[in-house]
Amino acid sequence: MKRQPSWADLYAFEVTRTEHTPLFRQIYLQLRSAILTRRLRPGTKLPSTRELASQLGVSRSAVVVAYEQLLAEGYTAGRRGSGTYVSSDLPEPIEGRRRRRKKPVAAVASNDAPMQSIADFVDVTVQSDQRPFNLGRTLVDARTAELWRKLNGRLFRSLGPIHLGYSDPRGSIELRNTICDYLRAARGARCDPEQIVVTTGTQHGIDIVIRVLPGLSREVWVEDPGYPLTRQALLAAGAKVRPIPVDRQGIDVAAGIRSAPNARAVFVTPSHQFPTGVVLSMARRLELLAWARAKGAWIVEDDYASEFRYGGRPLASLQGLDEGERVIYIGTLNKALFPGLRIGYAVVPHALLRAFVAARYLMDRQPSTLSQALVAAFMEEGHFAAHIRRIRLLYRDQRDELVAALNYRLGEDLTVDAPDQGMHLVAFTRRGLSDIAIERAGRQHGVIVRAMSRLYVAAPARSALVLGFSGYPRHTITPAVERLAQVVEAQSKAPRRRQRLARAQVRGPV
Ligand SMILES: Cc1ncc(COP(=O)(O)O)c(C=O)c1O
Repeated sequence: MKRQPSWADLYAFEVTRTEHTPLFRQIYLQLRSAILTRRLRPGTKLPSTRELASQLGVSRSAVVVAYEQLLAEGYTAGRRGSGTYVSSDLPEPIEGRRRRRKKPVAAVASNDAPMQSIADFVDVTVQSDQRPFNLGRTLVDARTAELWRKLNGRLFRSLGPIHLGYSDPRGSIELRNTICDYLRAARGARCDPEQIVVTTGTQHGIDIVIRVLPGLSREVWVEDPGYPLTRQALLAAGAKVRPIPVDRQGIDVAAGIRSAPNARAVFVTPSHQFPTGVVLSMARRLELLAWARAKGAWIVEDDYASEFRYGGRPLASLQGLDEGERVIYIGTLNKALFPGLRIGYAVVPHALLRAFVAARYLMDRQPSTLSQALVAAFMEEGHFAAHIRRIRLLYRDQRDELVAALNYRLGEDLTVDAPDQGMHLVAFTRRGLSDIAIERAGRQHGVIVRAMSRLYVAAPARSALVLGFSGYPRHTITPAVERLAQVVEAQSKAPRRRQRLARAQVRGPV
């Protein structure tokens, strides 16, 4: 009969005292690995703790702890009086199974996200005075901060069962009522509180829409250039994305109809197209609604940042024009207040409401009751409207400061569009300057600008810098533009920086 391999033959242990891992854990991990790969077969008797300790030159207690752990996790079984055995009822070897796989495991699809690593996701979103002109930064002034503290205190003093349990997946009726009133008054929306679903923001709203709209794997229009996170979310869900060009009137509906007449949906930013900032003209709005009605398609209106309008009358939402209930309106308070808030909302046509609420419920049940109570009080008591009025003036000043500094310092290299609305502006590069090169070099000098040409998919790309102005205190803007100017001038083909410096030396400092 063949000799059963002895424990020592079978398994060459190595434990080291210099490692950070405690001895018992080293023993446990190596035994577990041997069991999972079937080097120690089911039913094999393990040596006694004393034997193994002496073989390894370790204290018996280290082996005892390792054995107890293996026993507790079911890798081994103890038979009274006869020692410890590898369990006989373990499933197929897990590590071995992995090793036998012929093809290497394919990397998980990147979803077209521009980020290379998880750290990049954090990096692109970091907002601080030191990172002008990163997009989407907001300001909360002392008054709002104080109110927020007070309301929070009041909320926590009144904390009761209503705040602690599960609740309506659409969000609290108080918050839905106040959002509904606000949307009717400020955005001309057609809605009743039953149709409002509280989300964590635009991204959440878009994600739910993608889950509930039938037939997205057919075709969907997106704006080109457009908001990358919408496109990435659609691609991640397997939608067939059709980029439709944007011109001075917004998305080119006729081009969309030529490209994909039977698309199931279109995702648009009509009030302030991202990134170009153009407003969807009335003619195009009506064209889009007529197409959606005729084809039974859905229009997803991303109405981000519409609170911040600096000149002229506010533009009503596309949803307010829609008599056929084809528009799903997605709004956010993460821009009007602050991105860390994570509260947004959707106005959902009745035909989609049940599916929408079901998807929201299955995803994460409901919004946070405490955040909702806080925001509802802030809005109901009139602080939201007052906050917007104050902050709008600050952002307008920041916009003006940025436009003036760019024109003064970079007028030869950039053509700046001063937007009537929103939180960012677009500065087109001149004289063949590359927005991508400036974006890259700017990052190294602590100036965050977004290259607009990277936001195009199929349409001929225009080279421009997208700069957020909201949230950067006025006094920080001109010094940041100076840094940007140095970056741009270094990129510029003609050595104009030297020329300008020479001129400055003649004239003295400005
Ligand atoms: C086009 C667009 N929509 C929506 C948002 C806001 O998204 P959220 O509410 O998820 O923070 C942004 C933020 O940058 C945006 O640029």
